[in-house]
Order: sequence, then structure tokens, then C-alpha cells
Amino acid sequence: MVDLHNYIATVKNYPEPGISFRDISPLMGDGVAYRQAINAIADFAKDLNVDLIAGPESRGFIVGSPLAYTMGIGFVPARKGGKLPRKAIQSTYELEYGGVNVLEIHEDAIQPGQRVLIVDDLLATGGTINATREIIEKLGGIVAGVAFIIELNDLNGRDKIMSSGEVPFLSLMTY
Ligand code: PRP
Ligand code: ADE
Repeated sequence: MVDLHNYIATVKNYPEPGISFRDISPLMGDGVAYRQAINAIADFAKDLNVDLIAGPESRGFIVGSPLAYTMGIGFVPARKGGKLPRKAIQSTYELEYGGVNVLEIHEDAIQPGQRVLIVDDLLATGGTINATREIIEKLGGIVAGVAFIIELNDLNGRDKIMSSGEVPFLSLMTY
């Protein structure tokens, strides 16, 4: 087993002064570390009875696609606004470093009652995950759990997620 902390690059004052950016590029650039991270999330997921993986654009795709492939289940992308060609449900949220984003999921991507694990590279304020969750729940899906490679403790994203209802939670590293 490798120490995944050694595969995170910290960039101070990016993209705004005062933000410490935690970059997963070295982790995904290393086959052993990348596989270890995905396998750890798959291990967490194995008792959650998951039907689908969902991940927000774009770094959620880096985690969610190999996870879905490993688990032999489907992947649902939550795309940034205006990218999906067919009817979609959307939710708006605020970013840690300012500004507003929209996420969208095709309305036929999740069937009522399906159990969905939401994954992303990093949990900061929780806005992205709560927006993804809101769409999944509007479609009748059940959030089976949430999992991240990195959790930023000071921003209380975990509390924000749990305030919308308790769900199984995994973060592989905290900063
Ligand atoms: C980053 C990161 C998470 C989100 C976390 O994505 O990949 O999705 O921010 O922040 P939050 O918990 O405060 O919502 P970003 O929106 O920068 O997009 P990207 O993946 O396309 O870089
Ligand atoms: N997304 C939101 N906040 C971030 C941070 N501090 N580092 C990397 N990605 C982020």
C-alpha cells in the first residue's frame, strides 16, 4: 500500500489568494496510487447495494468512471450547465472560490428507487455534492452514500451533506 498523501500536490493561492488547491493529478498519473484509491472506494461501496455511480463534472468523472467499471455498474455524469443534449434536471450551487455553477443530469439516467453512490475527487463546502444529490433525489433515486479522495475539514462540507439527511460517508484523506 502506498501513502496517498504523497500523490497530492498542494498549490497555495490558486485559483484565488487564500485558497490551498489540492491537486490529484499526481495520484491519477500513478497507476498504483490511482488503483489503490479506486479500490478503496469500491470496498466501501460493496455493502451499500449500489445500482449506479454518479459523479460531477469534471474531476468526479476521474473517480466515478473507473469505479463504475470496476464494480460492473453504470456511471451517471452530472454535467455543467448546457452540455446535455436531452431533457435534464438541474441544480445551482456556489463554489468555494466564488461564482455560481449549474449541474444537470439527464432525466432518464436514474430510475425511481435506484441506489446511487455519489463520488468526487474532493469535498470542500459540499455545494457540488448537495446539488448532485438534489437532482438524484428529484429523479426518485436514493443516495446510497458519498465518497471522496480528499475532504477539506475546515469547510464543514460533511456537515452540509448530512444536514440534507445522513448517508454513509468515506474520505480517503483529510486536510
Ligand atoms: C471542484 C472539485 C469538486 C468541487 C468541490 O470542482 O472537483 O467537484 O470543486 O467543491 P465544493 O465541495 O465546495 O462544492 P470544480 O467545480 O472546481 O470543477 P472541475 O472538477 O471541473 O475542476
Ligand atoms: N475544489 C474546491 N476547493 C478546492 C481546493 N481547495 N482544491 C482543489 N479543488 C477544490
